[in-house]
Amino acid sequence: QAQSERESLLIALGFARDFFVKNLQTPEGKSIGLSYFKERGFGPSIIEKFDLGYALDGWDNLLKAAIEAGYQEDVLLKAGLVLQSEKDPNRKYDRFRNRVTFTIHNISGKPIGFGARILTKDKNQPKYINSPETAVYHKSDVLYGMYQAKKAIRDKDNCYLVEGYTDVVSLHLSGIENVVASSGTSLTDGQIKLIKRFTDQVTVLYDGDSAGIKASLRGIDLLLEGGLNVKAVVFPEGEDPDSYSRKVGSQAFQEYLEKNSRDFIGFKIGLYKDEIEKDPIRRAEVIREVVQSIGKIPDPIIRSVYAKEASGLLEIEEEVLHAELNKILLKGQ
Ligand code: CTP
Ligand code: MN
Ligand code: MN
Ligand code: MN
Ligand code: MN
Repeated sequence: QAQSERESLLIALGFARDFFVKNLQTPEGKSIGLSYFKERGFGPSIIEKFDLGYALDGWDNLLKAAIEAGYQEDVLLKAGLVLQSEKDPNRKYDRFRNRVTFTIHNISGKPIGFGARILTKDKNQPKYINSPETAVYHKSDVLYGMYQAKKAIRDKDNCYLVEGYTDVVSLHLSGIENVVASSGTSLTDGQIKLIKRFTDQVTVLYDGDSAGIKASLRGIDLLLEGGLNVKAVVFPEGEDPDSYSRKVGSQAFQEYLEKNSRDFIGFKIGLYKDEIEKDPIRRAEVIREVVQSIGKIPDPIIRSVYAKEASGLLEIEEEVLHAELNKILLKGQ
C-alpha cells in the first residue's frame, strides 16, 4: 500500500520532470528559460545532466497535461506538484509557475522534487519555491546533486558542500563533480550519514557573506560531531562558488580552492585574525570557541591531534587546552 503510493508519486514526479524539460524547447521556454540559463553559462549538456527545466507561465499547465495523461489530482497533490485553492475546493493549481526548475533526484536518479527559481528581480516573491516534504522527498535525508556526485565523491574521497543549486551546477562546469548542496538549510544527521556512505572528508564552500560564514561555522560543528574531517574555504565578500567560478574561470577557481582550504581551526582563526592580534580578550574567546569545536570530535586521538595544532597556532599551552577540553567533555556526558 505505502509502497505503491510512493511508486505512484515517483511516476508523477518523473512526468513533471519530463514536462519541465520539454517546456524548455517550446517558444516560451526558449525565449525565457533557455536564455536565462544561457546567460548563466548553463548550456545544453549541463541542462541535460541536471534535468534543468522550465515551468510555463500560467496556473495549470502541468496540472492539465498530467490529468490528460491519466494522473489523478490526488497523486499530484501528494507529490507536491499541485496546490489546493483555499477559497475554492474545486480549484487546484500548479505549485511551480513561470520559473526555471532544478530537478532534485534521489540517490538512484529518480526525480523526487523540484526547486524553482524566479526569473526577475522581484523582491516581493521568494527567489526559490521548493517542493514540500512528501512520502518520497524527506528533505533531511537528501542533498542536492548527490546522484550526479556520488561516484566523484568516492573517487576523490572528498565532498564539497555548497549552499545552492546553481553552485552545484557551476562547479560541474568548472570540472568539479564531487559537490552537493545543503539548499540553504542547516545540515541534518541524515544528510551527514548520506555523505559518510561515500567519504569522510568534507570541504565547506558556503557563500562569502555573513549568513554564509555563520552557516559554515554551524555546519562545521555538525560535521565534526558526525566524525567527518572538515575543511572550509572563505570566498570574497559577496561571492558564492557559482559567481566566483564564473568570475575567475575554472582554472583559477580550482587553484583558489587548493590555496584557501583550511582545516576548521585554520578557518576559525582566519576569520578572527585581526581581532585576535589586537585584543587578548577576543583571543581568549576564540580559543574557547576552537576548543568547543574540538570537543565535538568523537575520536579521542583525532581530538588530541587537533588540540596540538590549536595550541601551536593559538600560542597557548597544550595542557591548558586539554584542561578546557576535559571540562567540555565532562559537561557533555
Ligand atoms: N533558498 C531557498 N529559498 C529561498 C532562497 C534560497 O530555498 N528563498 C535555497 C536554495 O536552495 C538556494 C540556496 O538556498 O540555492 C542558497 O540561496 P542563495 O545563495 O540566496 O541562492 P543561490 O543558490 O546563490 O541562487 P542565485 O545564484 O540564483 O541567486
Ligand atoms: Mn576515506
Ligand atoms: Mn547567500
Ligand atoms: Mn548563493
Ligand atoms: Mn548564487
